[in-house]
Amino acid sequence: MKCIAYISRTPTSDRSVRMPTGLSDIISVSRKHNPQSQITGIISYREGQYLQIIEGPYAEVDKLMAKIAADPRHEDLWVFLDGPVEKRSFDSWAVNVFDFVDQNALLNTFVENHMSVLTGFDDYQKSRIQPFIDIKQSDAVLEKHYEDKDLRLLAWPDLNTVSQPQLVMNLCIKLTKKPYPFNALANSGEFGAPHEVTQMIRAFDQSGLLSITESEPVKEQIVVEKKPNKFYGAIKKFLGMR
Ligand SMILES: Cc1cc2nc3c(=O)[nH]c(=O)nc-3n(C[C@H](O)[C@H](O)[C@H](O)COP(=O)(O)O)c2cc1C
Repeated sequence: MKCIAYISRTPTSDRSVRMPTGLSDIISVSRKHNPQSQITGIISYREGQYLQIIEGPYAEVDKLMAKIAADPRHEDLWVFLDGPVEKRSFDSWAVNVFDFVDQNALLNTFVENHMSVLTGFDDYQKSRIQPFIDIKQSDAVLEKHYEDKDLRLLAWPDLNTVSQPQLVMNLCIKLTKKPYPFNALANSGEFGAPHEVTQMIRAFDQSGLLSITESEPVKEQIVVEKKPNKFYGAIKKFLGMR
C-alpha cells in the first residue's frame, strides 16, 4: 500500500482570481472511481489551492496520480509525500470536499503517521501547506521538552492506529490516574528508551490529549541539627561525666 499527498494551485479565472473551477466534476468522478480502486483519502480546497491525499494499492495510486498530474484543471503541483505506508490514515474516500473545521480530527492520524515528513519543509513549502495543516503547531510540539513536567492524559487516544497498542495502552493507564512525572516515565525503561517515550508523548501532545504542568520541585531534606539538651548536659556535668 502507498500514499501520495500533494498540493496544487487551482486555475486562474478571467479576473485573475484562483477558483476551484471544475471541482464538482472532480468530486463526482472521484466518488465513483476511488472506492472501486480501493483508494481512500481526501481532497480539499483552500485559498486557491487543492490538497489531496490518496492511499491504496501501489498500482492504483500510481495510475490515478498519473491522470491527476496530467489534468489541466490545476497547476504548480507539489507532491510532498509519496511512499509506502503500513496502514491507511483514512478509512474511506471522503466523498465531499473535506472540511477542515468539522473533520479536522480525521487528519490527525495522517499528521501523526507522517510527522517527520511534515516538519521537514522550508518556509515556502510551509506557507503552502499551512492553510491545510497546522505545521507551525507541529513544529512547536517537536521542539518541546517534557523534562521536569507532570503529564496527565485528558482523553483516550485511538489505539487502532498505533504500532504497539499494548505498550501505548500501558502508558495511557499510567497517565490517567493523576499527573505523572515525565522523568520517572523516561528513566523507568518500562516504555523503552527515553527518546521513545518522548516520541509517544509528543504524539499525544500533538493530538491535544495531554495536560502538562510543572513538576513539584523535589523538597530538599532539612536536616535538623540536634542541639545538646541543656538539662542532661547539666546532669552529666554534675555526675562528672563531662
Ligand atoms: C485536483 C484534482 C483531483 C482529482 N482527483 C481525482 C480522484 O481522486 N479520483 C479520480 O478518479 N479522478 C480525479 N481527478 C480527475 C482525473 O484527473 C481524471 O479526469 C478522472 O479520473 C477521469 O479519468 P478518465 O477519463 O480516465 O476516466 C482529479 C482531478 C483534479 C484536477
